[in-house]
Amino acid sequence: HLSVQERIEQKRKAALTGGGQLRIAAQHKRGKLTARERLELLLDPDSFVEYDMFVEHRCSDFGMEADHNKYPGDSVVTGQGRINGRLVYVFSQDFTVFGGSLSGAHAQKICKIMDQAMMVGAPVIGLNDSGGARIQEGVESLAGYADIFLRNVMASGVVPQISLIMGPCAGGAVYSPALTDFTFMVKDTSYLFITGPDVVKSVTNEDVTQEELGGAKTHTTVSGVAHRAFENDIDALLNLRNFFNFLPLSNKDPAPVTECHDPRQVKTHHTVLMIVISFLQIVDEREFFEIMPNYAKNIVVGFARMNGRTVGIVGNQPKVASGCLDINSSVKGARFVRFCDAFNIPIITFVDVPGFLPGTAQEYGGIIRHGAKLLYAFAEATVPKITVITRKAYGGAYDVMSSKHLRGDVNYAWPSAEVAVMGAKGAVQIIFRGKENQAEAEAEYVEKFANPFPAAVRGFVDDIIQPSTTRKRICRDLEVLASKKQTNPWKKHANIPL
Ligand code: COA
Repeated sequence: HLSVQERIEQKRKAALTGGGQLRIAAQHKRGKLTARERLELLLDPDSFVEYDMFVEHRCSDFGMEADHNKYPGDSVVTGQGRINGRLVYVFSQDFTVFGGSLSGAHAQKICKIMDQAMMVGAPVIGLNDSGGARIQEGVESLAGYADIFLRNVMASGVVPQISLIMGPCAGGAVYSPALTDFTFMVKDTSYLFITGPDVVKSVTNEDVTQEELGGAKTHTTVSGVAHRAFENDIDALLNLRNFFNFLPLSNKDPAPVTECHDPRQVKTHHTVLMIVISFLQIVDEREFFEIMPNYAKNIVVGFARMNGRTVGIVGNQPKVASGCLDINSSVKGARFVRFCDAFNIPIITFVDVPGFLPGTAQEYGGIIRHGAKLLYAFAEATVPKITVITRKAYGGAYDVMSSKHLRGDVNYAWPSAEVAVMGAKGAVQIIFRGKENQAEAEAEYVEKFANPFPAAVRGFVDDIIQPSTTRKRICRDLEVLASKKQTNPWKKHANIPL
């Protein structure tokens, strides 16, 4: 007979070994770390406070009631800890216990930490590695997913939510990551899909591998479901720590400020057309955490710092499709802008856009409603908004890209800016169709419109600035705008075009 103290110790020990040494070895053999090893890397040393180590599943079907089928803590490790001293709630699914599958108890553990994260105002990070619903539990498990989904939705815009996919995530399980703000994946060992290759084959007769269907490459380049992919577990967890430093803890907190030791008065030549290069010369330490770097590359979005303060950067990328806005770049940009606005992160927009991409593919795909998302996101945003027109700002895309008209707080033009309905050639072909002296008309159009003055004389840009002063100006503006207060009319919720 064991004493209570002995039983406590025995259960704790069992919880720490999860599904046992053999399954841990199998996990390592796949190149994956265990649930606990992952938390150790993610969190500051000795900061993890574990909850619910004694929770067990309550299933009594299919022999599950047997002692050897009970694992203290079940198939997920939950609790809170610190990343660089800042509070975060975490769950880490344990593939060594029933394949990390989601039992009612597993879901309950996740819900507990989500509820507390909401109450205290701290982000939630989920490390996903799971075979899906616990098959032996049936509807109990499905109910568990829905309980988590509901909390994901309630927490949206309240505390940042991040998912890191580190193994399988299939079926209903995919919708929790999909509801979170950011989904990251580990290359080669993680995949996300609604139904696996076998079901796909039987329904659509397509032959597709797991990797092709839902691997990191697919989701970061084709579907846009995931925001970044990392080389392995260690790389992913260390990047996640770095990423976390950019985020506020909740929607009530300002964006974090770190000490800045970068006094550069950089020379940014206005002949530099590549947006990435030009804004990297403007932000602190040239450090940039790009979101979706391999998807819709005609727009660049991500986090940086100006004078130590987190900012969201949005920039058209003229090196890809001339920086045109299309369906994918509009959706990518809109979601990023909305995250920044929800979490008090100022938005800095670099504009070099020749317009929206023409064509049947875009029109049939619904560019009108998708393009509207980006417009909507910029318009509704009440965080400080600073815009720099570096070169082209043509047509409706000029309006969309955080223009003065959408409540841009400070809008600048570089001397190289051209704000017009379209480029000179196209414009002249339309307004002087069939007429002579086209070359003359084109020269007149360039003289009148291909410069920053038409916008500046109307006050649609606040100033024409030299590229080399851009960093200094933005840092100063952000200081002033730190106390900005702006609200939108009361509404139950808005109705963004979807
Ligand atoms: N429910 C209960 N147990 C599960 C499970 C689930 N959904 N998924 C996996 N497991 C268990 C397996 O029985 C196995 O148990 P064991 O260690 O006692 O042998 C263990 O988890 C590991 O699974 P295994 O199939 O050996 O691992 P794998 O790496 O070869 O394959 C999966 C992983 C996820 C592809 C595979 O387990 C699978 O297809 N699972 C079912 C997925 C599914 O359809 N879920 C429901 C959709 S919501």
